[in-house]
Amino acid sequence: MPVSHRLASYGTSIFTEMTRLANEKGAINLSQGFPDFDGPEFVREAAIGAIRAGHNQYARMSGVPPLSNALAQRWQRLTGQTIDPDAQVSVTNGCTEAIAATCLGLLNPGDEVIIFEPYYDSYKPCIEIAGGVPIVLTLAAPMFGLNRDAFEAAITPRTRAVIINTPHNPTGKVFSRDELAFVAEMCIRHNLIAVTDEVYEHLVFEGQHVRLATLPGMADRTITLSSVGKTFSLTGWKIGWAIASPELSRGVRSGRQFLSYSVATPLQHAAAAAVSSGGDYLEAFEREYRQRRDLLCEALEEIGFIVYRPAGTYFILADHTPFGFADDRAFCAHLIDEIGVAAIPPTPFYDHVEFGKPLVRFAFCKRLETLNAAIERLQQLKR
Ligand SMILES: Cc1ncc(COP(=O)(O)O)c(C=O)c1O
Repeated sequence: MPVSHRLASYGTSIFTEMTRLANEKGAINLSQGFPDFDGPEFVREAAIGAIRAGHNQYARMSGVPPLSNALAQRWQRLTGQTIDPDAQVSVTNGCTEAIAATCLGLLNPGDEVIIFEPYYDSYKPCIEIAGGVPIVLTLAAPMFGLNRDAFEAAITPRTRAVIINTPHNPTGKVFSRDELAFVAEMCIRHNLIAVTDEVYEHLVFEGQHVRLATLPGMADRTITLSSVGKTFSLTGWKIGWAIASPELSRGVRSGRQFLSYSVATPLQHAAAAAVSSGGDYLEAFEREYRQRRDLLCEALEEIGFIVYRPAGTYFILADHTPFGFADDRAFCAHLIDEIGVAAIPPTPFYDHVEFGKPLVRFAFCKRLETLNAAIERLQQLKR
């Protein structure tokens, strides 16, 4: 095998695998989390305008000033915190590169990083490539709550950071203020860095999205990551960012400069237009997603799944065991081969795979016609 020993065990991402199978078998793709509709026209037009205006050469490593400024202003609007756009905003190729840059730029060999399963698939390999050690705690069904005792017990003198994804893919959990206050208390007591992955920050249907960086004592020890992909239905643009203290930003940037160095210049100018846009867009965005969530949750329940109704994100985690399959892979293989719908088997997001075997993840970032067509096919499970 030509793949390095470090990465061989990770194989091909489950998203690549399921999307390939969906295309091959003509299944309706509720697996990978990308919309089957386009992002807003004013943002796409801004990109075309930026190309025509000649914004086509290497950008500043930390991001073009209009985007850094727009992100700093947005941060001020969302959190009330004033930040320095030049020293505290780092634009990256999607949140995925921000995760990699954070790990490469801040971890030393042997540093332990606490993550929660089911985890986003790049956390573990990025920690390991950087020489760190992932320590995996479980968010267990049905509530997916933070186990405070397990969290505290997992902290050792080698613990350097914790990664929190809220709203959380794939459970749809939105970490409560109380849970985050406990995370903050632990970070302060044990001098940990908090990395928050908030790419679904504008997809909250129940409760409130709390930014860990806004809790007392956390602004200078939190790296907040996000991107335009989900919020503006432009997942292919891969424009993300990290917001952190100047000191932590230096760490992120030191990792970043040897990855892609800079991000597509015209798309950054267009992203500046996107993140500066007003609340009307976001209100409609949330309303439409709530409708999609309710439609699919109700249908899945009616068909016979045990549905963990998501408070946020555009994913539904459901328990498939009423249909009698051995595990998540067997169930998803049946779905794709016999029913014509692709979903994600979640065991690749677990170290303790027994928690993932009863589950299946559906993405509802799809047009209502697509969701209705999928629901019609899923009715076959009742027979
Ligand atoms: C939790 C989480 N983080 C990060 C990403 C990747 O974001 P981006 O496309 O901006 O790299 C995703 C995409 O699915 C995600 O679900």
